[in-house]
Amino acid sequence: MVNWYDKAIIYQIYPKSFQDTNDDGIGDLQGVTKRLRYIKDMGFNTIWLNPIFVSPQVDNGYDVSNYFAIDPILGDTDDFSEMIEKAHKLGLHIIWDLPINHTSDEHPWFKDAVNNANSIFKDYYIWHDAVDGHEPNNWGSFFGGSVWEQNPTNSNEYYFHLFDKKMPDLNWKNPEVQKSVADIAKFWLEKGVDGFRLDAFIHIAKANLDQNSLMTDEKFPIDDTFYAKLPAVKDYMAGFVKEIKEYKPDAFLFGEASSAKARDAAEYTRPDGNVCDVVVNSDNYGEVYDDSNKDIPKFFQNRQLSLDSLKRTYVTWESVLDHVSLPTLTWGNHDISRVLDRLNLPVEDDKVTKLLAMLLFLQRGIPVVYYGEEIGMHGLKYQKITDFDDQRALDLINSLRQKSYDDKTILNLLNNQDEMTARGPMQWDDSQYHGFSKQQPWNWAQTDTNNVDQEITDDNSVMTFYRKLLRVKKHECFTSGNYQLLITDPKIYAYLRKTTESKGLVIANFSDQKKTFALPKVAWKSVLTNESIKKTGGTIELGPWGCCALESRK
Ligand code: GLC
Ligand code: CA
Repeated sequence: MVNWYDKAIIYQIYPKSFQDTNDDGIGDLQGVTKRLRYIKDMGFNTIWLNPIFVSPQVDNGYDVSNYFAIDPILGDTDDFSEMIEKAHKLGLHIIWDLPINHTSDEHPWFKDAVNNANSIFKDYYIWHDAVDGHEPNNWGSFFGGSVWEQNPTNSNEYYFHLFDKKMPDLNWKNPEVQKSVADIAKFWLEKGVDGFRLDAFIHIAKANLDQNSLMTDEKFPIDDTFYAKLPAVKDYMAGFVKEIKEYKPDAFLFGEASSAKARDAAEYTRPDGNVCDVVVNSDNYGEVYDDSNKDIPKFFQNRQLSLDSLKRTYVTWESVLDHVSLPTLTWGNHDISRVLDRLNLPVEDDKVTKLLAMLLFLQRGIPVVYYGEEIGMHGLKYQKITDFDDQRALDLINSLRQKSYDDKTILNLLNNQDEMTARGPMQWDDSQYHGFSKQQPWNWAQTDTNNVDQEITDDNSVMTFYRKLLRVKKHECFTSGNYQLLITDPKIYAYLRKTTESKGLVIANFSDQKKTFALPKVAWKSVLTNESIKKTGGTIELGPWGCCALESRK
């Protein structure tokens, strides 16, 4: 069966940073509505919104205290309905983040579980008695410290939280939890949402809580063995997903599986599997890390794009998912710094930015573009380390200061890798706050000068290139053709896309040297390039960082 989402081209919006319409410095749903036309004109057909439910915003909305209403800082249900209605009129689909692994500790279920001795919601969460007056085991939370926190009304008991201590994990073993989360999903499907990004779903099953991790590098080591991709994930998901699909068969389930390898992705997206339609991970960037300095945790290490590693990644994902599901194609998201800051490439040259987009998005799969990438936007550059307030950054600052690192070195690491830099306001024009707001944005530091207004009229801009690229992506061979990576010069990334009707070929020169490439012997027509191309006979010459997409009819 062909579903609408098999042709999805996704634009990821961080709603707080996209467009502010009431000048409080925070983006809102009316802002998304205002920019729907822009999104459509760019060539996207699907929008993914980061969480918009009522939340204390401990983790920017991933900590939900009421799943049935929109957070007032973003708008209300009427704004939501207007947004959906106008999006649908333009032929755009909207999906959004549904955090299913945890709630906020301010959610009524948790409050009742803590405060009411006979609460029916107690079993909605994961509890364990203290062991010798301590945490029940040594498992580490993704946000630092233990996964255990004392029950505020009973110090002899702990609850489990994989992320912040204000985000207690739901107990998916409990069928009532599965049913309650399905009810939330159905409530919003009824209101018109087209699907969900299922946040952190690979973590909903936990191992036996009496087991300790044998990792010894930290007091509370992060050890995925006990809480990622356990077999029960699929069991817990099955009933939930079946209910959703029975209710709305074409609801798009886009699962976040941050540590998934290709085979995990296949397991979670098998057409008969009742888990997800596609998954997105956070590891497909072909990055090699500089791990020479052991003081610096992996997340903050400098990295470089290795073309060889990128080739290995995609040859694996494309092959393993062939006839199973579509890979997702992405350079980043809200959880890491922007691609142009992260990979140590000569991105002052727009040719490089264009090449990155072309080589990735014309492959078999669903492009997922993080807002701002389409104008070549860099991340925010903060001036002081005290501007950073996310937990991971604070931990880094703490640990490196203890080891006598100077602030400048730490600031550099943070500006290059920290997620806060990727969550800056969208740049619409050249006014003080880039047309995002008249007030200083909630997240603000130095920006580049790229903006939509200026790029929209420039034939050579990154934005114009993206628009053309997304048009090319819709050609049959680049949407549904099969995929073959070509073995060629180590500095060239080249692949073929083939249907019975047509062929597509993408060649990207990943170097600052001229390269030639011998074309397979058919009549090729160039459909998009980031430079003026030289094609002589059966050979194409690409300048430094040149790339080219070609097509031929059979
Ligand atoms: C996902 C989100 C991340 C969030 C976490 C907890 O990984 O992408 O931003 O902190 O889940 O909900
Ligand atoms: Ca606002």
